[in-house]
Amino acid sequence: MTDRPRKKPEDLRSAKWFAPDDVRSFGHRSRLKQMGFDDVDYRGKPVIAILNTWSEMNTCHTHLRQRAEEVKRGVYQMGGLPLEVPVMSLGEMFMKPTTMLYRNLLAMEAEEVIRCHPVDGVVLLGGCDKTNPALIMGATTANVPAIYVSAGPMIKGGWRGQTLGSGSDTWKYWDERRAGNLCDEAWTEIENGIARSAGHCMTMGTASTMGSIAEALGMSLPGSSSIPAVFAEHQRMAVQSGRRIVEMVWEDLKPSDILTAAAFDNAIVTDMAIGGSTNAIVHLLAMAHRAGVDLTLDRFDELSQRTPFLGNVRPSGKHLMPDFHDAGGLRGLMSRITDLLNLDCLTVTGKTIGENIAGAEVYDDDVIRPRDNPVSPTGGTCVVRGNIAPDGAVIKRTAADPKLLKHTGPAVVFRDYNDMAVRIDDPDLDVTADSVIVLQTAGPLGAPGMPEWGMLPIPKKLLKQGVRDMVRISDARMSGTSYGTCVLHVSPESYVGGPFAFVQDGDRITLDVEARSIHLHVDDAELQRRRDAWQKPAPRYTRGFGKLYSDQVTQAHQGCDFVFLEGPDHTPEPEIH
Ligand code: FES
Repeated sequence: MTDRPRKKPEDLRSAKWFAPDDVRSFGHRSRLKQMGFDDVDYRGKPVIAILNTWSEMNTCHTHLRQRAEEVKRGVYQMGGLPLEVPVMSLGEMFMKPTTMLYRNLLAMEAEEVIRCHPVDGVVLLGGCDKTNPALIMGATTANVPAIYVSAGPMIKGGWRGQTLGSGSDTWKYWDERRAGNLCDEAWTEIENGIARSAGHCMTMGTASTMGSIAEALGMSLPGSSSIPAVFAEHQRMAVQSGRRIVEMVWEDLKPSDILTAAAFDNAIVTDMAIGGSTNAIVHLLAMAHRAGVDLTLDRFDELSQRTPFLGNVRPSGKHLMPDFHDAGGLRGLMSRITDLLNLDCLTVTGKTIGENIAGAEVYDDDVIRPRDNPVSPTGGTCVVRGNIAPDGAVIKRTAADPKLLKHTGPAVVFRDYNDMAVRIDDPDLDVTADSVIVLQTAGPLGAPGMPEWGMLPIPKKLLKQGVRDMVRISDARMSGTSYGTCVLHVSPESYVGGPFAFVQDGDRITLDVEARSIHLHVDDAELQRRRDAWQKPAPRYTRGFGKLYSDQVTQAHQGCDFVFLEGPDHTPEPEIH
């Protein structure tokens, strides 16, 4: 446990707004009174902003208004003043073309909302995929004491005695539907039963992965990330987080004290041990660069190769997040990999990660596997490179058919999503189970926003023959709930003239995951000829946020942050006039 000097009330950031005897502060104080607060409510007390991503357009966050009230209860208990601040919500289900287009916008908003207001500490209420990295990126740059409260997974889905997992079972049963194996009635029953409560996807999708990563980084209370959203335990965790943030303000415990290179290694090791979403790679790269940590794709592969995959949760495993929670949650899992973690890393508790997980136990060895019986001896995600992905691409090896991890086949190329949608189920499409399906123009700029299209559909005629996996390659991302032999995040993307743009129908491609290689069997002279013939596409946007995004976004292997937002520099504090 650290012994940090405590801040004095006059040192609070909010004191600059409320303490001086001048006309500006008079205005600030009188307007607090307009809201019904008296002197006793704020004088000398930390102001805690609760950044809330609740929205009726976000299906996963319907409980976050109530959770904000519970955070407030904790803040009041410890003598702080909680003020709830709504921020942009990024709901995966309704937002088009993709929430990833807006991750950096929420990150900017979070940073600026903190900076421009009298905020001493901040509680970040997120959960649905991109809200987590966006809020943490913004808080990292703002660098005031911050604690992340994850929305938590929804309860398990069910249909005719089967357990249904978010996303994963949608894809599975959709393939059965396309193959003609599922009637209208059954399909509607699945629709009714797959999402049955508030909370984020309850598979080890991106939301569960990023919640676990926030905890492994030290930005959330220990054990908090797996608590199902509708459990009373989740309410109590929100109250505890409210209590803790007030103490963090007095201790001046900031993200810069927590988000070190060693903490990011812990996050990557944990990501590999839980079989986390490939999206975590893009987000962790961006988050690390905000913290001044020089993280690269290669570090993921290094740590993946020495980390066993223990979290037996779908889509790479068998169970769901509520099972993972009952089995001991992330504390239980981390207690099984202590030799791979940097146990001295400081966390929001004011204690180290080692202290946080001390005494943790695992209560179900099938859900959280022991070291001598892992789901896989190495981590879930691998980085591959080659002449069509010189800056790298990723594959979730544990979600792929092992027979396809070394495979050569002819390319069937779709120039963009619309081309694929029109032709993929054409009975005359020249495709077999050995083909390699390629989708171009699906990256950060091309799509735009690098949507989760990477689990490219199996052509219907092959589904009917019983084919359920093929090698698929794109510069897109893939939902954390998806599965299959899908090579993703090809960098640089095709839209900017990366060599992936030059793949043509019939070209042979070899994927060799063990060798970390992806190779297009086209000689350099022919590739150069295709490069010379390539024409740069017109910009997607000429105005608005899309223009800012297009001008600034980096490639997948760099984290897709905006160039002007990267790095640990902070914008100056506002003058209080
Ligand atoms: Fe919100 Fe999956 S749709 S986490």
